[in-house]
Amino acid sequence: MKMAVLKETRVGERRIALTPDIVAKLQGDGFSVVVEAGAGVEANYPDALYEAVGATIAPTAAAALEGAGIVVRVNAPTTEEALALPDGCLHLSFLQPTNSVDAVKAMAAKNVTAVSFDLLPRISRAQSMDALSSQATVSGYRSGLAAAEYQSKFFPMLMTAAGTIPPAKVLVMGVGVAGLQAIATARRLGAVVKAYDVRAAAKEEAESLGAQFLDLGVKAEGAGGYARELTPEEVAQQQAALAAEVAASDVVITTAAVPGRKAPILVTRAAIEAMAPGAVVIDMAADGGGNCEPTVAGEVVTVNHAKVVGLSNPPSQMPTHASFLFARNVANLLALFASGGELHPDYTDEVVAATAVVRGGKASTQQFAELLGLEVAPVPSAPQEGGAA
Ligand code: NAI
Repeated sequence: MKMAVLKETRVGERRIALTPDIVAKLQGDGFSVVVEAGAGVEANYPDALYEAVGATIAPTAAAALEGAGIVVRVNAPTTEEALALPDGCLHLSFLQPTNSVDAVKAMAAKNVTAVSFDLLPRISRAQSMDALSSQATVSGYRSGLAAAEYQSKFFPMLMTAAGTIPPAKVLVMGVGVAGLQAIATARRLGAVVKAYDVRAAAKEEAESLGAQFLDLGVKAEGAGGYARELTPEEVAQQQAALAAEVAASDVVITTAAVPGRKAPILVTRAAIEAMAPGAVVIDMAADGGGNCEPTVAGEVVTVNHAKVVGLSNPPSQMPTHASFLFARNVANLLALFASGGELHPDYTDEVVAATAVVRGGKASTQQFAELLGLEVAPVPSAPQEGGAA
């Protein structure tokens, strides 16, 4: 079976969905991998590395797609790209179906099985397939480095003959996968770190990395281990309680997200105005609307004497290892849908059923059926012991 790896078309994207070592494994498992020319160059995986493991290089996306049974990408296709997919293929990528309704509808119309990494259940068995986590790890590390880069002060405490420099004070808001990595990175650079989240479980995790956890009295545990959206009263309480902490920090890194919603505003313009000259705010949630009032995705905004950095697509800024991790997530999730060069998805598997947002022209859940104007795919019964599925 032919598997196509396409060059990403999102502006500024430098990642590729499969790295040469994973392509070698897939070739060994009966798949014939075709890579669009130059697709890995920005991530430091030139075409020759793919050819060396037996892949074919296609001059265009259209040539790569011809006859492909499986297509892998990092980002969601545009509607036009979705319409160019071969009928009935399996397509794996981040999809954010609620933001890509037309593209997902186009895939359904072409009988494509559209697998979305965003929909992966956060269960232990699926951790090796969890691209949200792997890319958040890259983002967290990158945001820690960006903070140090934009600062005009040292992060570590330095005791020198000319005088003692105190450590930088870093505040990380949102202690999920990315926030934990931001804490770890700032700590490795020598900063004193405080952390804040609305989930109680975040306290122990932040403290295990050496951060001091701020308890501001706002708790917002949601479904599936995620945070819920705060009420307007809670938002006001949180913003007021955070203002003094923000003003006292050299660096603020924000990573807060609520699935399916615009990023919550944690830091007001007034709070940033009260920061000391040279203070830096890194907003890792910039692409989702930002956690700070003044944030503009992809830009550095000056507020009073502080800089607010709207970090856009941070994993793409470390494309080699972001692709390295993403490719492993692809191979591990793909193994539930296909192996030995053949497709054999088992829709009684909760990971397969949850991630395949559309299959056979139907939607995986009632919610997506309504969103996409499709019927719901039937839930298959589990295979009988000793019998065929
Ligand atoms: P995320 O990217 O959805 O959100 C980032 C962080 O922002 C979360 O910790 C969230 O609690 C926090 N947040 C949201 N609203 C906030 C607010 N108003 N104020 C302050 N903080 C706010 O989170 P991520 O990294 O995807 O993780 C979500 C959960 O899933 C976590 O509990 C994580 O430990 C868990 N998880 C479990 C995995 C597993 O395999 N068991 C794998 C990865 C994550």
